[in-house]
Amino acid sequence: MLIRNATLTDGRTGIDLLVQQGRIAAVGPGLFHGQAASAGSDDIDAAGWLLSPPFVDPHFHMDSTLSYGQPRVNASGTLLEGIALWGELKPLLTEEALIGRALQYCDWAVARGIGAIRSHVDVCDPRLLAVRALLEVKRRVAPYLDLQLVAFPQDGVLRAPGALDNLTRALDLGVDVVGGIPHFERTMADGAESVRVLCELAASRGLRVDMHCDESDDPLSRHIETLAFHTRRLGLQGRVTGSHLTSMHSMDNYYVSKLLPLIAEAGVHAVANPLINITLQGRHDTYPKRRGMTRVPELMDAGVNVAFGQDCVMDPWYALGSGCMLEVAAMGLHVGQMTSQARMRDCFNAVTVNAARVLGLPADGLVVGAPGDFVLLQARSPVEALRLRATRLLVVRRGQVLARTPPATATLALPGRPPQIDWTLPQ
Ligand code: FE2
Repeated sequence: MLIRNATLTDGRTGIDLLVQQGRIAAVGPGLFHGQAASAGSDDIDAAGWLLSPPFVDPHFHMDSTLSYGQPRVNASGTLLEGIALWGELKPLLTEEALIGRALQYCDWAVARGIGAIRSHVDVCDPRLLAVRALLEVKRRVAPYLDLQLVAFPQDGVLRAPGALDNLTRALDLGVDVVGGIPHFERTMADGAESVRVLCELAASRGLRVDMHCDESDDPLSRHIETLAFHTRRLGLQGRVTGSHLTSMHSMDNYYVSKLLPLIAEAGVHAVANPLINITLQGRHDTYPKRRGMTRVPELMDAGVNVAFGQDCVMDPWYALGSGCMLEVAAMGLHVGQMTSQARMRDCFNAVTVNAARVLGLPADGLVVGAPGDFVLLQARSPVEALRLRATRLLVVRRGQVLARTPPATATLALPGRPPQIDWTLPQ
């Protein structure tokens, strides 16, 4: 495949990119000017649009996605009612329905330019129905989507009877990552113990860790500190992720100034889920209402790899969502007040290369030797892509086109005005 005249996320323009045997073989300005692509391969004029690494969703729940309203809607809209509602739905699930909903969501995700998803899968059901279903989904989508699964004990690995055994069996079946939910255990001490047990389990099996960590407004929730401690103790640097970390929003500033270097030193990745954090946190507040999202710019400044996840699409916790990582990044940008040019680019990276790093995937961008995976966006820069929630003109994996969307345009009927709208400004 040959792509001509693309703009890259670092601002370089007029770039040609060649993919051979699924990998980027050449990339540079005007490399193939006047040369035809080899017979039988795609030759695509990017017309100056933005060629980006694929979107990566580092935090999702594919076992519950597209189940909104089953068996009822979340009346209070709170996290705890969502967990209770998911508990009501679990006995009603079938493997067939789980697979059907997940595959439908994967279609949406691919069309939106997502190349990889890390999905938590609830292991508190002793039948491991959702685990088996999502392992089957992972097998079916493998040709076009990287699906990484996290064994997630939704009801608490120590609090729920049999959960540790279920989680271990899920890993035996092929689930990739060890999950946890320390703030949901009965006590702070149990939460800390769960972090120790789960990190040791991951270390013994050579697996990564991704915990729902401190997903509350409690300024005294301290499980991220414990997670960083055990990460370093067990030599798991770079392989552990703290998801949500919303309590950091409410923590004492002095304590955070001690905590940030500990997270950075341990190489723990941080994942914020802006759409969900902003809607589920602060529910017990009157005014002012806390926003709940973790301290994204401060974590980045401390040297922590920070990514944004989607968490939920049409499930017991969230009625909206569509697989649009640009929507996720734009929400993170607004909630985090990350409005400088550099910060806006950070937000774009948080749903592309930073998120890839969380999953342990190649994260060097569109360089020679990298997989031929990219998205052509109807925008001239990452910031414009965020502003416009840009159309994914072309989604490519290993040099093969997976999806096309026609450019977004409108036809005006205004006297003295050109009929077509150009949504972009000269760069
Ligand atoms: Fe989650």
